[in-house]
Amino acid sequence: MSLISGVSDFFGLDIGTTAVRLVNLKGSGPVKSLARYAYAPIDSKISLSDAKSDQQRLAGVIRDLLSEARLLTRNVAVGLPSQKVFTTVVDIDRMSPGELAKSIHYQADSLIPTPVDASKMDWAVIGDSPKDSNKVELLLTSVPNDFIENRLDMLESIGLNVISFEPDNLALTRAMLAPDATLPQMVLDIGNKSTDLVIAMNGAPRLTRSIPTGSEAIIRSAVQNLNIDDKQAEQFVFKFGLSKEKLEGQIYQSIIGTVDLLAGEIEKSIKFFQTRYGDVKLDRIIVTGGASALPEFPLYIANKFGISVEIGNAWRNVSFSPDKQNELLTVSNHFGVAAGLAERAE
Ligand SMILES: Nc1ncnc2c1ncn2[C@@H]1O[C@H](COP(=O)(O)OP(=O)(O)OP(=O)(O)O)[C@@H](O)[C@H]1O
Ligand SMILES: [Mg+2]
Repeated sequence: MSLISGVSDFFGLDIGTTAVRLVNLKGSGPVKSLARYAYAPIDSKISLSDAKSDQQRLAGVIRDLLSEARLLTRNVAVGLPSQKVFTTVVDIDRMSPGELAKSIHYQADSLIPTPVDASKMDWAVIGDSPKDSNKVELLLTSVPNDFIENRLDMLESIGLNVISFEPDNLALTRAMLAPDATLPQMVLDIGNKSTDLVIAMNGAPRLTRSIPTGSEAIIRSAVQNLNIDDKQAEQFVFKFGLSKEKLEGQIYQSIIGTVDLLAGEIEKSIKFFQTRYGDVKLDRIIVTGGASALPEFPLYIANKFGISVEIGNAWRNVSFSPDKQNELLTVSNHFGVAAGLAERAE
């Protein structure tokens, strides 16, 4: 959804559940260098709220963040939270781009869940259909107009110029994978309220899902099962995670049911992918987001599915000076979306 093209300086903005984050890159060519990054925590109730007062609070936080970061540009590429975006991969008859546009509009009602005239649709042909040689695969996204318009108003109210909106999960995939990655890989962003799951292959996402389980649900199960308060639960969960040895496995026992809800969805996605693409085997799972810091989570998933699991690096396609290494590594789990937005080709 590009509104203006040819804009060379801009920043990526991720309005997440627990924080607002921005990344600004400079230079040109495939690997740009980090100019600025910054974040400000927000109350998890305001990020997706439609209430005017919450929108204003959010605008205030972003405005303060911008002045603190001393950005030189007002151009921004904004992420769209997966809870608000419908994304699907469909097979459609091979035809010219003009005919394709007509055909999609004609069929739109049966392709997206929201009313067509109240939604903004976007699509890209990502390859040949694995099922039918007369068809191509189309990655289709749609977002309610209301949401886009509210975000645009909010961002323009603080003097920003929105150059594009892009679904979080697509930006995330760009940041987490090598630009020339061909093997099928899963990217998991385990956020506060939900987990974004993408399987990408040959440079394009082939399956995307948003799963309503994140760190909040994991911490809540520890609160309930161990009868402790939120703060303690968070400390215990992120200290001991899925270790069966620590605290006699009490933390493990208290959260494993919730973690397995997530694991079950991962399994379904792998099966779906393999059914559609035949023999291709998932090469690895890359985990990021706050809850990917859960101790022994990568190991647990690796053992369960017999696939290698690695922690994603938000800065893998960005260059920066070596003295920034540690600082950037500390925040890497939270910056995948913002970095991916900033890596967009203008
Ligand atoms: N060491 C830690 N101590 C406490 N909490 C942690 C720790 N590491 C991660 N977290 C969790 O990380 C969460 C934030 O994760 P993340 O930054 O991925 O969320 P988000 O991007 O704001 O949310 P979303 O992507 O769902 O909109 C916090 O809610 C917290 O529970
Ligand atoms: Mg996030």
